[in-house]
Amino acid sequence: MLLKGKVCIIVGAASLRGIGYATAELFAEHGAKVVAVDVTMNDQMVSEIKTSIDKKTNLDADIIGLRCDISKAEDCDRVISEVITRYGTIDCLVNSAAVVKSQSLMEIEQNDFDVIMNVNLKGAFNLCRSVLKVFSERKNGVIVNVASVAAQRGGGLVGGAHYAASKGGVLSLTRSIAREFGPLGIRANVVCPSMTETGMLDGNVSDEKFKEIIDAIPLKRAGKARDIAGACLFLVSDLSAYVTGATVDVNGGSHIH
Ligand SMILES: NC(=O)c1ccc[n+]([C@@H]2O[C@H](COP(=O)([O-])OP(=O)(O)OC[C@H]3O[C@@H](n4cnc5c(N)ncnc54)[C@H](O)[C@@H]3O)[C@@H](O)[C@H]2O)c1
Repeated sequence: MLLKGKVCIIVGAASLRGIGYATAELFAEHGAKVVAVDVTMNDQMVSEIKTSIDKKTNLDADIIGLRCDISKAEDCDRVISEVITRYGTIDCLVNSAAVVKSQSLMEIEQNDFDVIMNVNLKGAFNLCRSVLKVFSERKNGVIVNVASVAAQRGGGLVGGAHYAASKGGVLSLTRSIAREFGPLGIRANVVCPSMTETGMLDGNVSDEKFKEIIDAIPLKRAGKARDIAGACLFLVSDLSAYVTGATVDVNGGSHIH
């Protein structure tokens, strides 16, 4: 078990098909106390998540759910203080929350741009800032932000230029955190998935486009949520104790650079 007793906050964890949920499941398997956070989280979802994890892992997983809109700084502060009240500490944050819209540049209205930036980039900033207050006091802690290959290759798969730019911002933000907070013993890294079979693809990729993308991937398949979860597990565990400011590509070889 790589995370025995560790308090892990996973944000963007409401969908049983999503990367956040897969990460929660894998972390629970490794003994973590999981805090599943999402803007849509409610009691029924938490219960579904726990039932699903317990069934797959044969464990009585230690898991709670909290609602949070990460675009609001006060919501992020509230979640962090609720976790501290309950567990007394926080060991890691995985931020997998985001919104996507597939639009060409000229179709992007001001409001589309603001929504994507407010959740994907400002939300990542808000969450990191809230948790870094705790990590700085502890002089310990790990952050993993989930960005996207869209940030590295200039979009063109799922999501428009606003999505790609927001994820590029997440890359730079995370690297800056790694540099500024490294001396305090805090690590921060990014995972860049490519097309992954989750609800995020619904309505954003046609069957034809999906096949075309798969054809160009050396490993000849789309990513699975658990593939991304595995990289997150590595990055929050002590296996990566000397890794910070890194970008881990989980893309089947589709973007080798
Ligand atoms: N699926 C893909 O092909 C793919 C590819 C590259 C990167 N990613 C990234 O992976 C991450 C996980 O995406 P996913 O594929 O699991 O999709 P998903 O839609 O299942 O997960 C995103 C979650 O973020 C939550 N969310 C949205 N706005 C929020 C807010 N304001 N506050 C809190 N939570 C909010 C949603 O409710 C949802 O549960 C995202 O950051 C996404 O950009 C996904």
